[in-house]
Amino acid sequence: MNELICKIQELKKKKNAIILAHSYQNIEIDKVADFVGDSLYLSRMAAKTSADIIVFAGVYFMAQTAKILCPDKKVLLPDLKAGCEMADMINLQQLREFKIKHPDIPTVCYINSTAEVKSECDICCTSSNAVKIVESLHAQKVLFVPDQNLGKWVEKQLGNVEVITYSGYCPIHHNITVDDVCNVKEKYPDIKLLAHPECKEEVSALADYVGSTTGIMDYVKNSSDKKFIIATEKGVVDRLKRDYPDKEFIIIKENLICESMKLNTLQDIYDSLNNETFEINVDPTISKQAHKCIDRMLEVSNTGVK
Ligand code: 13P
Ligand code: SF4
Repeated sequence: MNELICKIQELKKKKNAIILAHSYQNIEIDKVADFVGDSLYLSRMAAKTSADIIVFAGVYFMAQTAKILCPDKKVLLPDLKAGCEMADMINLQQLREFKIKHPDIPTVCYINSTAEVKSECDICCTSSNAVKIVESLHAQKVLFVPDQNLGKWVEKQLGNVEVITYSGYCPIHHNITVDDVCNVKEKYPDIKLLAHPECKEEVSALADYVGSTTGIMDYVKNSSDKKFIIATEKGVVDRLKRDYPDKEFIIIKENLICESMKLNTLQDIYDSLNNETFEINVDPTISKQAHKCIDRMLEVSNTGVK
């Protein structure tokens, strides 16, 4: 394993490459990653890197987003089967039909969407800036694709915007039920529940904190509590256990695992860098349009709501 890590580090230097890793990846990937974090952080890192090659240890839409932000760089996804079920729940045709059904309303797309979908939305968002992005539109009604749960959570946070959501969801987070919360809360009544906004509306409503993967990790960092209940993919719990060995983390239910995220191994990362596979490309017209959608998000996210 150490030998493989050294070989990856050498290849990175030789090829002027960086590795971006999402916090749901297999934890050993952190040993070779330059940046580990949530979707917003990784997009920002992709946008400002001077590397020639970006290896994205994540899922397809993330590598695609990096390619859109850095069209002149080589963006590699170690395993092409690493897709996102939620992103694939809406295609361009379905987006168009949704917009026709609800005309003249600005459309926000979650970053977990395809380049084609992004290319026909007004602005993008991630789980960490979704409230700010919707607020920045100063609209009474907003269309939100594809995640119904994140959209409805945003609506609740703002109180004065109607968020009309598409029917998509993340199968991992959507699978967490109020009963799961009740069961764990019965066992640990005084322990705070930290949840991802991809959870169902009624689950998020019971949480003490709702935020992105990085948001959850920052909450733990800044809290003096010693025990937490976590409602998101297991990768976050694995990292919390590693980083805070003196604290206890209870995952809300077993098997909260995104199989796609777990496809990448250190060997795959090595092969990807060594063979420069699998290169992600985006149609230039789609890319230009999708870039605008992502850029608007980065602008609002960096400067705050005006
Ligand atoms: P964040 O890391 O932005 O919270 O997103 C979670 C996720 O589902 C990524 O696919
Ligand atoms: Fe997609 Fe859910 Fe996996 Fe994230 S955790 S990549 S939203 S399927």
